Amino acid sequence: MSAQIIDGKAIAQKVRSGLGEEVASLQAKTGVQPHLAAVLVGEDPASAVYVRNKQRACEQTGIDSTLHTLPAETTQQELLDLVHQLNNDPLIHGILVQLPLPDQIDELAILDAVTPLKDVDAFHPENVGLIVQGRPRFLPCTPHGVQQMLIESGAEVAGKHAVVLGRSEIVGKPMALLLMQKGEAANATVTICHSRTQNLTEITRSADILIAAIGKPEFVTADMVKPGATVIDVGTNRTAEKKLVGDVAFDEVKEVAGAISPVPGGVGPMTITMLLKNTLIAARLAKR
Ligand code: GUN
Repeated sequence: MSAQIIDGKAIAQKVRSGLGEEVASLQAKTGVQPHLAAVLVGEDPASAVYVRNKQRACEQTGIDSTLHTLPAETTQQELLDLVHQLNNDPLIHGILVQLPLPDQIDELAILDAVTPLKDVDAFHPENVGLIVQGRPRFLPCTPHGVQQMLIESGAEVAGKHAVVLGRSEIVGKPMALLLMQKGEAANATVTICHSRTQNLTEITRSADILIAAIGKPEFVTADMVKPGATVIDVGTNRTAEKKLVGDVAFDEVKEVAGAISPVPGGVGPMTITMLLKNTLIAARLAKR
């Protein structure tokens, strides 16, 4: 039997409409207009699309956004200067520096420069530390989006075996933390797999929840999935024919899994939605 499809686009719309109401209510009560500043350095076409989608989503939710586009040859100091300017601007609540950055720029130095109270990506070490300790200020956008998808799909997570494929700082590592911690769609027994993992298929086949975030097109095949498992695909890869595919071979895995998220229309819209949520939280945190 074919799996339940976890429609990230539909879930994102539902969450965004609730956020829109919260934005309007914050404005009405306090006069604060949430405002996200997005910074795009260089001409990477995929990054430009991501940033445009983030701005559109802000508009849809009543959040203001300003895009700062800088040329590919921008120096680290020039980018730091912009970040400092945004840190000190009382009308800006969230700062998003789109990654990747050009090679001449030290990415960590830039992310560390974003003031933690405006760090809506939750990349700053202070915010990561708060997440690790289970007292988050902002939740990381993609892992939080995945968690919302698990909640909305009705997946049982507590006490189950969750396997995270990938150990990136943006997705794999924080995803494992959220699934392991106490809370809703959490309390799982978590295994993280990566490029050096041995007996990978044995491990993935024991997963009740399988999160694929390794950046390899259609890497997860049907034989790697336990019948009835919930599979969430975080991958966004372009094939040689420019088709967008995830890290999961969707057509064959959907015949084995109990529930599966598609690409596109799965995790992507949820990541953006959680960015909006963090921008609203940042606006509430802002000193008045
Ligand atoms: N590039 C790819 N994913 C992300 C993300 O979640 N945030 C930022 N800032 N850049 C990215």
